Amino acid sequence: MQQALAGAERIFQIIDAPKEYETLPEQGRAKSFRSLTISNVGFSYSNSKEDLVLRNVHFHVKAGQTIAIVGGSGGGKSTLFKLLLGLYSPTSGWIEIDNRSGDSMGLREYRDYFSLVPQETILFTGTIRDNILDGNLEADEASVIAAAKKANAYDFIMKLSEGFDTAIGERGSRLSGGQKQRIAIARAILRDAPILLLDEATAALDNESEKIVQDALTKLMVGKTTLIIAHRLTTVQNADLILVMENGNLVEQGTHDALLLARGRYHSLYYTQLEESEDTEKIVQEA
Ligand SMILES: Nc1ncnc2c1ncn2[C@@H]1O[C@H](COP(=O)(O)OP(=O)(O)OP(=O)(O)O)[C@@H](O)[C@H]1O
Ligand SMILES: [Mg+2]
Repeated sequence: MQQALAGAERIFQIIDAPKEYETLPEQGRAKSFRSLTISNVGFSYSNSKEDLVLRNVHFHVKAGQTIAIVGGSGGGKSTLFKLLLGLYSPTSGWIEIDNRSGDSMGLREYRDYFSLVPQETILFTGTIRDNILDGNLEADEASVIAAAKKANAYDFIMKLSEGFDTAIGERGSRLSGGQKQRIAIARAILRDAPILLLDEATAALDNESEKIVQDALTKLMVGKTTLIIAHRLTTVQNADLILVMENGNLVEQGTHDALLLARGRYHSLYYTQLEESEDTEKIVQEA
């Protein structure tokens, strides 16, 4: 009884919470997209000026570009994505798409611009089909299959006893890490939004699984504007712009070549990673 009461209290808190959307217009598809501007954005989870998680973050993204975000753990990279998605509002500064703010266009329309592949895949109890359809509830069967194929998920799905109708267990507990990620990628492919936010998982996948996921991500990025929180050297090198974040500050930005020449933070991050990957290769070869 006591437990049920405590549970009920939390449920009522959620029911009573203010709605994000007062009206729910038709789920639209953002059609054109030209630019995304992040102007002097500052943010604190506690709304106080003392513990800012982001300070004066400022950059501009043009349609079709790939922006890599790198930097140490806790630097504020995933937080930046939460602000871009409108899950939190900046404490200072502003974010605009095609010179319009989220406030002026409405949160629903604003969010239609984005697809997210999060650092930790979020799946819900249900079938594989339900989880992929979450990207676009109106999609037909052919589109679901096409998305699964593009995400390199089709083959493993077909090997499961009930294919797309297989129940994946609580939060996808019956799938491996790499399989879950590929379901999340299929979902993002189906969603087909102009701006992709990819938060590369830090959790280690084995080499082969990582290659399959990487290949699916590359296919997902075709024709999109992509912001990618990157840990892999290859993703970073090919980006149009690299942003280096440390302790909430954007400490450097530029292309791979320019940042290497500058011999700053990126230079040292790059060579540390390079040495690590060479060490790994040596170990693999020796084994
Ligand atoms: N919901 C939250 N409430 C309060 N503080 C938070 C919350 N989420 C993150 N933080 C803090 O904000 C800071 C930035 O975290 P964030 O997750 O953005 O880092 P990150 O750059 O993505 O790190 P990683 O590379 O490890 O994923 C950290 O100090 C973290 O403890
Ligand atoms: Mg993160």
